[in-house]
Amino acid sequence: MFQIGPYSIDSQVILAPMAGVTDRPFRQLCRRMGAGLVVSEMVTSDTRLWKSRKSSYRLDHTGEAEPRSVQIAGGDPNMMAEAAIMNVERGAQIIDINMGCPAKKVCNKAAGSALLKDEPLVAAILNSVVQSVDVPVTLKIRTGWDQNNRNGTQIARIAEDAGIKALAVHGRTRSCGYRGDAEYDSIADIANTISIPVFANGDITTPEKAKWVLQHTGCSAVMIGRAAQGRPWLFREINHYLRQGTLLPPPGLGEIRQILLAHLQELHTFYGEYMGVRIARKHVGWYLQHEPGGSDFRKQFNQLETAADQAAAIEAFFEDTLTKGAAA
Ligand SMILES: Cc1cc2nc3c(=O)[nH]c(=O)nc-3n(C[C@H](O)[C@H](O)[C@H](O)COP(=O)(O)O)c2cc1C
Repeated sequence: MFQIGPYSIDSQVILAPMAGVTDRPFRQLCRRMGAGLVVSEMVTSDTRLWKSRKSSYRLDHTGEAEPRSVQIAGGDPNMMAEAAIMNVERGAQIIDINMGCPAKKVCNKAAGSALLKDEPLVAAILNSVVQSVDVPVTLKIRTGWDQNNRNGTQIARIAEDAGIKALAVHGRTRSCGYRGDAEYDSIADIANTISIPVFANGDITTPEKAKWVLQHTGCSAVMIGRAAQGRPWLFREINHYLRQGTLLPPPGLGEIRQILLAHLQELHTFYGEYMGVRIARKHVGWYLQHEPGGSDFRKQFNQLETAADQAAAIEAFFEDTLTKGAAA
């Protein structure tokens, strides 16, 4: 459907990078559910910090499907190039540069979307990274710095000239944070300005909205962040709607139970029991946020300390909900 360097991506819906969320278990789950591309959580360009436990989990790509895209963040062209090279050595097949996240500083330098104000520095970083690795380099931006400085189209031109292979655009300026609605007109302007694939991002929560955004912006794909939390089947639903034009029925409780239990098990295995149990809590909260009784269950679930107790509690919750559903 669209290309990123040598990689053909056959789905128009991709997973946004989210620090603390899009770890390897979640990325693998979203791929299985139909995401055409997933991007790892950002790692700092300061490779001295990679020995931390957090970084080592973020840098682990064992068993991940191709292409493996790894996001780096930082504000120094040489350090960014070094980080890109080291990630490629560790198995990254695409390097994604973060200029979309409101993180103010990484290592006392402007980073993330704070860079958008400084176009010469943006160009220097992009050129430095593109020239240092043989793999495709992609970029994630916002529509600009603030409402009066929406320089997204200018940044997009700089990116294309530097040899960036795809551009994800979160339809907000940096100063907007997460407020207001994503502005898809600005994304459309950017997509019209350049000829590399552009991904539309921001507030896409349903198959219908995904289709509308694709049509409205002319983008190659939509990128989904928060709406996929606790709802990884959204990728399957969007793919189906885009391809068949009909809405898939939502997954039944039996399938949600199966997906959630497998996800829990992968978190426990990946992080080990102590961390895995803690990380599982937020995911379970997301999965059950709209289920009747979900918030009471969550309070009890968050007290549990072992992997076995968590799995048993989930089994019991679904057993109970399914039985009540059958009796009703
Ligand atoms: C918890 C969280 C963590 C995020 N971490 C990153 C990140 O590491 N890199 C990045 O480029 N964007 C990050 N973002 C921004 C998302 O990729 C995305 O642009 C934003 O959430 C808007 O998309 P959505 O409305 O579909 O969630 C993060 C967002 C959230 C909610």
